[in-house]
Amino acid sequence: MAKAIAEGIKEEKVDVKIKRCDYATVEDAIEPDGIAFGSPTYFGYMAGVLKDFFDRSLEFRKRISGKKAVAFASAGSNGEGCLESIENMINAFGMERVREGVISTGIPGDKELDACRDLGRALAKSMK
Ligand SMILES: Cc1cc2nc3c(=O)[nH]c(=O)nc-3n(C[C@H](O)[C@H](O)[C@H](O)COP(=O)(O)O)c2cc1C
Repeated sequence: MAKAIAEGIKEEKVDVKIKRCDYATVEDAIEPDGIAFGSPTYFGYMAGVLKDFFDRSLEFRKRISGKKAVAFASAGSNGEGCLESIENMINAFGMERVREGVISTGIPGDKELDACRDLGRALAKSMK
């Protein structure tokens, strides 16, 4: 899903990097004009490593607020809680959610990957 979002962003001629949140630094949240946050659903919520990334970034909230953002989630059966938890963080950090996020239930198929590319294009367009 992350790769498909990155493809959509590149189609709009906007630079993109994919980062794993467990290795990402706070600078990775401060540097870009827009961010797509994604996670597998674990116990109806985002994965702990993504929550930890938000927690680590909290003191830099003022430098992150105002950026464009979107969310995406994968799930075994229901990704609503995960997507909502990420979108709540986007709001809490004062980022601007560009569009409703994408959920893939099970392995993402063509439909979900197309929706991800679309999401990437929308994020990139919002940053121009
Ligand atoms: C510890 C754990 C908890 C999970 N909790 C949920 C859950 O609450 N709801 C759900 O739909 N899927 C749940 N799943 C399934 C994962 O969301 C699913 O396997 C994952 O999104 C697949 O993405 P990945 O290929 O990136 O790991 C859970 C999986 C694990 C390992």
